[in-house]
Amino acid sequence: MGTGRHPDYVSGVKETAIRASASGKVILLGEHAVVYGRPAIAIPLSGLRAQATLIPHPGPFHIQAPAVGIDAPLSKLPPDHPLARIVYLTAEHIRRPLPDALLRIESEIPVASGLGSGAAVSTAIVRALAAWYGVPADPPTVSALVYEVERIYHGTPSGIDNTVIAYEQPVYFIRGQAPEPLPVGATLHLLVADSGIPSQTREVVEDVRRNWEAEPTRYEMLFERVAEEVEKAREAITRGDARALGKRMDANHKLLQEIGVSAPALDRLVEAARRAGALGAKLSGAGRGGNIIALVDKSTAERVREALKTAGAVHIWQTDVEMGPAPLAVPGPS
Ligand code: PMV
Repeated sequence: MGTGRHPDYVSGVKETAIRASASGKVILLGEHAVVYGRPAIAIPLSGLRAQATLIPHPGPFHIQAPAVGIDAPLSKLPPDHPLARIVYLTAEHIRRPLPDALLRIESEIPVASGLGSGAAVSTAIVRALAAWYGVPADPPTVSALVYEVERIYHGTPSGIDNTVIAYEQPVYFIRGQAPEPLPVGATLHLLVADSGIPSQTREVVEDVRRNWEAEPTRYEMLFERVAEEVEKAREAITRGDARALGKRMDANHKLLQEIGVSAPALDRLVEAARRAGALGAKLSGAGRGGNIIALVDKSTAERVREALKTAGAVHIWQTDVEMGPAPLAVPGPS
């Protein structure tokens, strides 16, 4: 699975550390509506990663996650802590004891910004533990384990984050179904810009649910219109028509404003990107804060980047969705 080298044993004790990683992600289109059974499209951010390293270490299993101030034996974490939960779930799933090891977590993915940091950390941990024991960890299995932890973060997650991160390829996703791989007709250039405003997915998703309960007809209609944009975007991606895709992204942003999840800072970034020549721009993820994405072509990328900086972006990443046929097989659910 390419998650690190397989262990070497010396008298039953591991000699080397096992390192595994997982990518971040962005949702291209369809967030929120995806929770209500509509399709969405997401891509991995392969250049932005979380790492889990298992280092041979006598004594009880120990976790170090310096970014969140954790340096403790696993038994000292509450069992429903996301890091503890994924370790216990994985050990149970692969039917192995916890190894004599220290688990170190590092991540380049900013938290609470819709880039999939929680799901990436969980995925890296599953891969590291599986690799430690030489057990295969295929994407559907990894995705299902990580989904259990996403529920702690998000309440009622659609499953798109764990899916795109476990498969690490662009996906067309409908809740409860096997993801479909997405053929890409021409390489897409994207800028991801962080507003610097933290966004709690759980809260935003709960707000949308309250609004949906209060005005079901209106919200169902909005979700339906999002689904139409996603379908058109999917065709545009397959044809390699970036201009058409940009229009769908713009339309999706407008619908997200109507759903009530944008914010002045996000609208400012989206506007700045469009004025500087982006083919389309929208918020990405739960909204209210977090990131926007802008679709650019090579000639405008630098100008859009500058405009985003001036409009207040605290970080900007560039990522390409490479042209190519969809991988032949996305393994189905196990
Ligand atoms: O984790 P985020 O911020 O990318 O948001 C997840 C996307 C939502 O559609 C808002 C929620 C979900 O579970 O799909």
